[in-house]
Amino acid sequence: MPVSERAQNLPPYIFAQIHQDIAQLERNGQSVIDLGISDPDQPPREDIQDVLCDQVQHPDSHRYPSYRGLSPLRHAVSQWYYRRFGVSLDPDSEVLITGGSKEALVHLALATVNPGQAILVPDPGYPSYQMPAALFGFESIAMPLRAENHFIPDLERIAPPEWSRIQLGFFNYPNNPTGALAPADFWHHVIDQAHRHQWTVVSDLAYVDIVYEGQAHSILEYPGARDVAVETITFSKSYSMQGFRLAAMVGSPKILEAFYRIESQINAGVYLPIQYAGVVALQEDISLNILATYQTRRDFVVSALQQKGYPVFTPPATLYVWLPVPKPLSGTTFASSLLHQHGIAVAPGIAFGPTSDEFIRISLTQPLDILQHALARWPNAYPQD
Ligand SMILES: Cc1ncc(COP(=O)(O)O)c(C=O)c1O
Repeated sequence: MPVSERAQNLPPYIFAQIHQDIAQLERNGQSVIDLGISDPDQPPREDIQDVLCDQVQHPDSHRYPSYRGLSPLRHAVSQWYYRRFGVSLDPDSEVLITGGSKEALVHLALATVNPGQAILVPDPGYPSYQMPAALFGFESIAMPLRAENHFIPDLERIAPPEWSRIQLGFFNYPNNPTGALAPADFWHHVIDQAHRHQWTVVSDLAYVDIVYEGQAHSILEYPGARDVAVETITFSKSYSMQGFRLAAMVGSPKILEAFYRIESQINAGVYLPIQYAGVVALQEDISLNILATYQTRRDFVVSALQQKGYPVFTPPATLYVWLPVPKPLSGTTFASSLLHQHGIAVAPGIAFGPTSDEFIRISLTQPLDILQHALARWPNAYPQD
């Protein structure tokens, strides 16, 4: 049977490919430590699990949920924004519930970009930001994130003719994969450019709670954001609810309404017990124990890599270490040798953008003893004399 050129030409999703490679090696008897995907290993809080189980028994739970999301959950998101950032959101027009942020970010492009128009995509950046261009044929314009610029894009480098095609820009601080935070004045500049050139900003706040030093900001704290921006939050990283598939998109009512038009044609809302679990989750912030656990892992990995001779940047936030690989290797060859010779799976930098192949990404969602095993197997940056 014929399949579309789109499906044929799309490379496999990087983390699906890594899982496949690991499964193959394990079938051949090799043990592999997976530091590829970020898949929080800490369990969700007990009260979250309890409400989920209770709600599953409710006689109406199996029914279609509302397309915009459960009203108590939209109110809980709005209250969370106020508590966290002092931002007031109208739960009816400025909050939508979605089945995870990954698909919401891809569908947002359908709601904001026309054929022939362009999207600003960070390089490196979360791989799904590349998907609207790959799937729907939009143009993708790269925003390089470089260590010398603290992994912040330089919007001044975008040429005037490009601004006329740009309709949407993806931003993500705390940042996957670099672990960087944006400085407090960064959003003023982005909002100013969005007003000037009339494009939509999306701020992906997936790692809002995974911050060790410094502070995460919501774009909605800044004047003028509500006209040009939406923001996504997810329950996946803060509350280890990644398998639940629950997130929210908030901000500009006009952009949310366009997103809702598209989303309500494709999806039918999130299972009600999961949304009730989300209401309970938001009553508390991330557990300090969980945050301390991640920080201990980060400190261990960074210091072990430094001892092995790697010039590694200590990430102030997120669940990743973004590691420059020893020259003249590429991230792809280094990741391949880590997997096949040392039994460690990591994500090659190229998965996050075409100019990021001098790096690999290490995920911190494995317990400390597993990370210790991995680092014991890890090669030195340069062979010892
Ligand atoms: C930056 C970023 N955004 C979004 C997501 C997707 O999260 P969700 O589980 O809500 O789809 C991830 C997942 O790793 C991520 O790293």
